[in-house]
Order: sequence, then C-alpha cells, then structure tokens
Amino acid sequence: MSEIHEKSPKHCANKKAFNFHNFNKKLYIYLSTIFLTILSLIFLVWLILHPTKPQFSLKEAEINQLNLSTPSLLNSSIQLTLLSNNPNKKVGIYYDEFLIYASYKGQKITTETSISPFYEEHEETNLVSAFLIGNLQPVASTFAYEVQRDQGSTGKLVLNFKVMGRLRWKVGTWVSGRYRFVVNCVTFMPFGMLPSLPLSSRQGTQCSTTI
Ligand SMILES: *[C@@H]1O[C@H](CO)[C@@H](O)[C@H](O)[C@H]1NC(C)=O
Ligand SMILES: *[C@@H]1O[C@H](CO)[C@@H](O)[C@H](O)[C@H]1NC(C)=O
Repeated sequence: MSEIHEKSPKHCANKKAFNFHNFNKKLYIYLSTIFLTILSLIFLVWLILHPTKPQFSLKEAEINQLNLSTPSLLNSSIQLTLLSNNPNKKVGIYYDEFLIYASYKGQKITTETSISPFYEEHEETNLVSAFLIGNLQPVASTFAYEVQRDQGSTGKLVLNFKVMGRLRWKVGTWVSGRYRFVVNCVTFMPFGMLPSLPLSSRQGTQCSTTI
C-alpha cells in the first residue's frame, strides 16, 4: 500500500512535468503564430492606410479668354495640363472623381470640369488635360480692378487650380473605400504686352495634395 502510495505521486509528477513541457512548447508556437499574424496585419493595415499621397504638378496653363460682360460676369477659357504621379511602389490608385476649376483670389473664375475616371498603376505618371470654361461666371465687381492692380504691381496674375476628387487605393487585389482628396496648384502668369492673350505659364510647379 505504502509503495503504491509513494509511486503514484511520483508518476503523477513526472507525467505533469512532461505535460507542462509539451504545453509550453505548444503555447510558444501558438503565441508566436498569433504575434506574427498580428504583426503582419499591422503591417498590412499600415501599408493600406498610409500610402504616400499622389503627386501633382502643373505642366502648362494657358488663358485664352478672360473677358468681362458686366463688371461681375466673366467669360473665361483656360487650357490646363497637369502631371499626375503615383509615387507608391505597391499601391495603385483609382481616381473615381476628378473635378478641376480655376480660381483667382478665392473666387472661382471657371466652372468645374470633370475628368473621366482613370486608374493609375504604381509609380506611373499621367498627363491630365482639362479645358476650363467660365460662361458668365459671377465674380466680385472688383475683378477688373484687382487684375489691373496685379498687372501694375507685380506684373503677374496669380491663379489657383484646384482639384477636388475621390480616390481608392488598390493593394494587390484588395481595394479600399473612397477617400476625398484636394489638390491645390498656384501659378504666376506673367502679363505680356496686355491686352494680348494668351497668358501662359509653363512650369513644373509642385501642387499640394491633401487627403
Ligand atoms: C475678349 O478679350 C480679347 C482679348 O482680351 C479680345 O481680343 C476679344 O475681342 C474679347 N472678346 C469679346 C467678345 O469681347
Ligand atoms: C460671354 O458669354 C456669353 C454667353 O456665351 C455671351 O453672350 C457674351 O457675349 C460673352 N461676353 C464676352 C465679353 O465675351
């Protein structure tokens, strides 16, 4: 009886020690698998949520018309070419919505022109051309005065080209939800021997992008 009594706990202890060893090994494998999974998920989420913003620059802008019908109704026509670049190595971009307009001192001088949706592969560069038109576009009645003042003081017309759009990121076969983005390009157009048009600007002005 006493022999059995003595052997039994020993046996149990051995078995327990063996089980613990096995359990620890399994636990180690489980934990490291979970840890690695979480780590790769975090990496994937980081990759998806923090792609580098697309880059835009102004390639060419030409004002073909800038005529006032009344002091506060403007007709305008501007030919614009932007360079669009997707700097990401692994992320493609779907541009679902892409509206461009021109503004002068915070006021729109053309209506919004819509560019048809396009896809930009990673590290791809595209030319985006738009014909911006204003037909009896309402502007402040000081418009002509402001333009003349710019001509007299700096000799340059400062215009903003703005893009308002929505994009989706593509990573592998996964496509994100839609994100709004805004691009702002500032250009300084030197007045020639006014009133001669077109006024044009050919520069590699970098535009700012916000998402
Ligand atoms: C518009 O302006 C241009 C130059 O500024 C001028 O040559 C042209 O006659 C104007 N057009 C109208 C309809 O006033
Ligand atoms: C502006 O456009 C309107 C409509 O197209 C036209 O009736 C008007 O004569 C134009 N004005 C100028 C100054 O070109």
